Amino acid sequence: MQRSTSGGGGGRGARPAAHELARYEALFAARTRGMKSSAMREMMALTEQTDVISLAGGLPDTSTFAPELYAKLMSQVAAESTARALQYGPTEGMTATIECIVEVMAAENTFVDPSEVIVTTGGQQVIDLVCKTLIDPGDVIVAEAPTYPGAVPTFSAYEADVEQIEIDSDGMPIDALEATLDRLQAEGRRPKFIYTIPNFQNPGGVTMSLARRRRLVEVARERELLVLEDNPYGLLRYEGEALPTLYSLDAAAVGRGGASDLVIYLGTFSKILSPGLRLGWAVAPRPVLEKLNLGKQGADLCSSSVTQMFVSAYFGEQGAHGEGAWRTYVETLRNLYRRRRDVMLEALETHFGGAASWTRPDGGLFIWATLDERIDTTDLLALARKSEGVAFVPGRAAYMDGRSGASSMRLNFAGVPDDDIREGIRRIGKAMREQLRLLGSLTGSVLTGAESAPASEPRRESEGQTPLADVVALPRRDQSPPARRRRDR
Ligand SMILES: Cc1ncc(COP(=O)(O)O)c(C=O)c1O
Repeated sequence: MQRSTSGGGGGRGARPAAHELARYEALFAARTRGMKSSAMREMMALTEQTDVISLAGGLPDTSTFAPELYAKLMSQVAAESTARALQYGPTEGMTATIECIVEVMAAENTFVDPSEVIVTTGGQQVIDLVCKTLIDPGDVIVAEAPTYPGAVPTFSAYEADVEQIEIDSDGMPIDALEATLDRLQAEGRRPKFIYTIPNFQNPGGVTMSLARRRRLVEVARERELLVLEDNPYGLLRYEGEALPTLYSLDAAAVGRGGASDLVIYLGTFSKILSPGLRLGWAVAPRPVLEKLNLGKQGADLCSSSVTQMFVSAYFGEQGAHGEGAWRTYVETLRNLYRRRRDVMLEALETHFGGAASWTRPDGGLFIWATLDERIDTTDLLALARKSEGVAFVPGRAAYMDGRSGASSMRLNFAGVPDDDIREGIRRIGKAMREQLRLLGSLTGSVLTGAESAPASEPRRESEGQTPLADVVALPRRDQSPPARRRRDR
């Protein structure tokens, strides 16, 4: 097949034009129809765009890692083990790296056997491998609403039917979960797993309460359901008491010092060390672990030996008081991110005050803000990027239907310097107030945030103004759930 030279907008990562796609259409697998471009792709692209203040990415601040230490550790790996570092490694990961993982999990009071751990290429790969292992088209996953925007394209790619449970300030309400499970049971459908981010949820910023954690584990045990516990942020707590992981609660329920037999735990070095390493892990019941391993063999054989050896060299470093240097670094991150969270909260008060509500996270990287119901943040993003040079993740990206969450946005405070946080929020606030004014003039009244009319009538796409959503293509799916569509095929 001849390569097209017509250019689909040009540039790396540019989306192909419709006529280019048409040439290849008949070759694509059916499952790719559910694979819509998610906000993540554009958000990742923004990391290379320096003229935009991006509050969009899930980025930690990697500039805080000492360059001399990075150089020293890389030299050490090169000097001591060039051949091993440049070689393939075991699919399940290197023993020394798994020891580091066991240490990180112990810092969250979660004790695991090294033989139950698999090293992965980021936590993202765990989500992919769990779906690869468990999901046939039309199978049900229960997730939070909103949910991690990076999981949305994965769930779509495996053609899962995702039931989203609206969260509140204490995370997923378990009574709502049980009602959904009852309904599914009445329909003869059994979820393959429940997906939750209990700590400082991405994107919601909220934390599941202890009572709900206990009840969730009970429900999983009563109904023999698997839970995928996604916990990248547990160690990034800025205030309050750490809460037990679902894994540890379930292990305690199993008793006799046993391992959890229903929770698949996802961890990552991305937020406590570096996402550039692309190293995460899963802990899972042995039969599931075995399948994850098989899935990983097909995906990438093994994760990078170079970065696994970097991690084990790093965990050998001592801090000033004889403790692991990695613990001191996490403490540095906690102090920095706590301050940035407070800077963002203050800026929100100044620039969004009276016109929006937002969460106040005890940890993690994100604040979730909800604006006047008539504002569509996908449209607002287009405006904010073009005229204000600022970006955020629009709420729709966190919903499988691509429609809910339209007036919310995810804001990252961790990866951005204080002044950029203030300026970024000021610019978004300006764009928001402009939209409110526009809406006001269209309805014949002038609105300025606080006075904005109560949004009793949800805004319809065709109403009032032309949608501006030409910057971020979000998954917009048709009305019927995937399972029904499948049956109709
Ligand atoms: C909730 C959640 N899960 C998984 C990931 C994947 O991270 P990584 O693949 O870098 O480990 C992220 C990254 O932002 C996340 O926020």
